[in-house]
Amino acid sequence: MVVELELEENRKPEIQKTEFVWMNGKTIGWEDATIPIMTHALHYGTGVFEGIRGYGSGSNLLIFRLRDHFERLINSAKVCDIETKYSAEELMEACLSLIRSNDLREDCYIRPIIFVGFSGINLGFIDYPTESAIVVFPFKHYFSKPGLDVCISSWTRLFDPVTPPLAKICGNYVNSVFAKREAAKNGYDEALMLNTSGKISEGTGENIFVIKKGRMCTPPMGASILDGITRNTIMELAKEFQIEIIERDVARSELYTADEVFLTGTAAGIAPVITVDRRVVGDGKVGPLTKSLLEGYSEIVMGKLTLGHDDWVTKVY
Ligand SMILES: Cc1ncc(COP(=O)(O)O)c(C=O)c1O
Repeated sequence: MVVELELEENRKPEIQKTEFVWMNGKTIGWEDATIPIMTHALHYGTGVFEGIRGYGSGSNLLIFRLRDHFERLINSAKVCDIETKYSAEELMEACLSLIRSNDLREDCYIRPIIFVGFSGINLGFIDYPTESAIVVFPFKHYFSKPGLDVCISSWTRLFDPVTPPLAKICGNYVNSVFAKREAAKNGYDEALMLNTSGKISEGTGENIFVIKKGRMCTPPMGASILDGITRNTIMELAKEFQIEIIERDVARSELYTADEVFLTGTAAGIAPVITVDRRVVGDGKVGPLTKSLLEGYSEIVMGKLTLGHDDWVTKVY
């Protein structure tokens, strides 16, 4: 059930809250899911999180790649040396039960988070408590436009010896926030960041694919990217569609002469890019391969196309 918003001083939150939140093994009211001001993660970014999508299907709700998201969450915690109290299976169960408690059946977003709680200000957080929570809320689109205007950010993507981009670490997102705000203030929809080798890494919350003469490429794992679940899905779909796909370093200038460029992410879905640094990509319209992959992806998340992965879609009810 979705709860009416309380508006504070004319400020309207972007998301609609739901009745219940799961926190540390209990289902509690949204308003009761609060944390102490000296929570370690609030000050130091010591948390890991996930973004998962649910798609309304009649009176049912379909969750896409639930297990893969929770396994990545556990692995992100391992990278950060944050102790986890719950297994991927237990969190998956908690997630499904939370959605049922909220009786949510429309398109939604699921945000699990595991973070270092309140004890003190020691950066080593030895013996500090770990808090776990899952929040769900209705969600339709991250980008409201069918074709994106993107720029190359002046901010460099963080890299493994700093804080590993392959883990979804709360603190990592300051890097993404800097790039995203700069892009927004300059009139762009999204920013792409270069890695320390000057090659394309990824968007602030998306991976990138580039198409030239029918061949598709995407930066490899070593290019300072998150191992995106949508990226992986698109790579499998490309094989199914017999589109040649390679993982290799991509130069910034390749984007200017590409036939098609698109971004992939759980929140963003498949997001076509129509300009890069104000240079028109291809003919400035959503390209044919992007279009067919976008259509294929829509079928996959609705369980109509499985590519042999019957476990990718979880029915909630
Ligand atoms: C930095 C970053 N890159 C890529 C992605 C795309 O990953 P996924 O497809 O698993 O959502 C995300 C979103 O989670 C992200 O935050």
